[in-house]
Amino acid sequence: MTQSAAPQTSAPIGVFDSGLGGLTVLRAIRERLPAEGTVYLGDTARVPYGPKAAETIRRYAIEATDFLLDSGVKAIVVACNTATARALPEVEARAGVPVLGVVEPGGRAAATASREGRIGVIGTRGTISSRAYNAVIHSHRPDAVVLEQACPLFVPLVEEGWTEDEVTRLTAERYLAPLLEQGIDTLVLACTHYPLLKPLLARVVGDDVALIDSAESTAASLERLLLSESLSNTSGLSTPARYYVTDEAARFDLLARRLLGEEVDHLEVVSVDSTG
Ligand code: DGL
Repeated sequence: MTQSAAPQTSAPIGVFDSGLGGLTVLRAIRERLPAEGTVYLGDTARVPYGPKAAETIRRYAIEATDFLLDSGVKAIVVACNTATARALPEVEARAGVPVLGVVEPGGRAAATASREGRIGVIGTRGTISSRAYNAVIHSHRPDAVVLEQACPLFVPLVEEGWTEDEVTRLTAERYLAPLLEQGIDTLVLACTHYPLLKPLLARVVGDDVALIDSAESTAASLERLLLSESLSNTSGLSTPARYYVTDEAARFDLLARRLLGEEVDHLEVVSVDSTG
């Protein structure tokens, strides 16, 4: 069942991701909009989305949307780059509340920040093969040269906690060499996990390349969206953050603390799979 009445401004913001990586986006939202309550859904039973077919990701995204609507959210943030790249129009059509993905804010920020219009984009295979960032960047800056590179090894390296490891540095050097050879001046971190690699990536690309973190630009876009829709929480009432996962992720606490920067109080395991 989904809601139909206009949501209250005190209602929470729903955020979903394929797993726990979206906690980096939630963190940016909570830092920027501390008055807002949040409901986070991490589809930990079915992570990763990165290598999966577009049709599968669309089904998962619709199921996550229905779960958040049933939780009474006033807006939905698709924190997962892969789900945004593959399923944003389907989520928008389903939701009936404002929806924000991470691709438009990140792509726009890159188009604006780039000096020469030479922009690198790194993400999962799903995000890169969708070419969604390419389309958004060109819509804001038609003359931009966009160079995209899938970096599938980064997600497991971050989940392993190897954010400052020699192995990760060598991996980053190898993935980024073709982009650096093409003279990029801006690099979009188009995956939930990559903000945790920011210090290492900054050293690999050097001072002349600006790093664009979609988490921060998404939080800023969400603030503007809530204002324009008159949905900012001015009630003085704030609901505590709620967290749901579809499978009790191994090492949940450790990973959540690393990605979110705070303890997770209210955590529940739920099923969102409509096929049984
Ligand atoms: N959340 C995904 C993204 O931002 C990364 C993890 C996955 O492949 O599901 O693309």
